[in-house]
Amino acid sequence: MSVLKAGIAATAITLNAIALPASAGAEEAPGYRYGSTDLPRSPVTLSDLDLLKKTLLFTEDDVTHLRLAGEVLSDQIEAVLDVWYGFVGANPHLIYYFTNKADGSPNTEYLARVRQRFALWIRDTTAANYDQVWLDYQHEIGRRHHRIGKNEVDAAPSVDHIHFRYLVAFIYPISATVKPFLANKGHAPETVEKMYAAWTKAVILQTILWSHPYIREGDF
Ligand code: HEM
Repeated sequence: MSVLKAGIAATAITLNAIALPASAGAEEAPGYRYGSTDLPRSPVTLSDLDLLKKTLLFTEDDVTHLRLAGEVLSDQIEAVLDVWYGFVGANPHLIYYFTNKADGSPNTEYLARVRQRFALWIRDTTAANYDQVWLDYQHEIGRRHHRIGKNEVDAAPSVDHIHFRYLVAFIYPISATVKPFLANKGHAPETVEKMYAAWTKAVILQTILWSHPYIREGDF
């Protein structure tokens, strides 16, 4: 086993052992800033957001099914994160973005801190109300993937920037891997399909908003 693979295996074991308390909130997730009023304002306006939702065919019915997905996923979040982190950990080109710049080893503390915020993000995605505060945190999450803000909140000595192509590519695994979890609570297949469609649209919508820092001024 290569040194990198051994590092990844060790990382996976450590990460699977980290469970988030059911009552997790800002105080349990360092760096989580959803709701802070001193974040930079999103350059995307609420009316831009409305047009994006329209373009994605995102309706009130999707909101209803996202709320249902939130209930269905609420006690499965750690299992979902195990799948996502397993995927990242098994792919050196993805775990790279969590590695220490100095020696290329996975930064387990950084991985664990981001995992806690990721858990809150699942909840927030299913509960989203698409107001200015939500929009501003989307901009913040975009900044955190880009060199203008990556590593900042965790003071992580990691690589500087996540390449845009992987943000878009991630939409599929982040959507498809959730489907079996949506089907775990005995809902009718057509209801599972609607939850899945709503979840997928919500992930696409957020990824578009997160793309802003990557796109040349005036082209978004
Ligand atoms: C659809 C695509 C993606 C989703 C839904 C997603 C989701 C998230 C979430 C929820 C956070 C935490 C946000 C917060 O701080 O509150 C985060 C941070 C992070 N994500 Fe992603 N992500 C995506 C793409 C990627 C890709 C492709 C990578 C590369 C492997 C990646 C690596 C990271 C890293 C390193 C952080 C920590 C950034 C920091 O330093 O603050 N993400 N992501």
